Amino acid sequence: MKSLSLLTLGWFALQAHAAPDVDTEQLRGEAASLIPPFQQQLLGTVKQAMADGGPAEAVKACRLLAPEIASQHSQAPWKVGRTALKLRNPDNAPDTWERSVLEQFAKRSAAGEPIEQLKHGEIVAGEYRYMQAIGTAEACLGCHGEKIKPELVELIDRHYPQDQARGFREGDVRGAFTLSRALPR
Ligand code: HEC
Repeated sequence: MKSLSLLTLGWFALQAHAAPDVDTEQLRGEAASLIPPFQQQLLGTVKQAMADGGPAEAVKACRLLAPEIASQHSQAPWKVGRTALKLRNPDNAPDTWERSVLEQFAKRSAAGEPIEQLKHGEIVAGEYRYMQAIGTAEACLGCHGEKIKPELVELIDRHYPQDQARGFREGDVRGAFTLSRALPR
């Protein structure tokens, strides 16, 4: 009887999506600490490809290596990725929760909040989820800006016929890092 009531309690805690002893501050810190190495490897890979073979090689590196780098950095229990409202790779499409956070970031950015502050963590359906906005730097404009070289446009169109991830300006929110993990027991 006793174990049954404990089970029931556990069930209610799950239903509330917030076990009382989950330390969301710690999870938030963990999530945030996984982003810089992921971001640095992405940037380093693009820079290297650019140096080795120019912009076309860099597009290829993004295309082939970005998903692989994301899975390399997804070390259990965390899953790490990137998403955006205006997408290049449809595999990065936001789910409902991610979309609402991206929309919230867009509003906060339009209201003048600096991109570095656009972060949001929350317990959603038994997972801890965390997102952090990605700004558009000058280095991104060659492939996501308003004036992309014709040969790159051709290449991008070929691989991403539905590409929407162009026309950005420096300082725009380009997208966000998105992380999730099952709640610790
Ligand atoms: C050499 C071209 C190139 C450069 C430079 C580049 N990107 Fe990308 N970007 C791509 C390609 C190709 C993809 C699709 C690859 C993928 O992630 O699947 C992509 C995908 C993304 C995504 C994932 C969401 C989506 O639309 O699929 C984000 C976010 C992103 N880029 C941000 C940036 C930022 C920020 C910079 C500058 C720091 C940058 N990119 C520089 C080519 C580039």
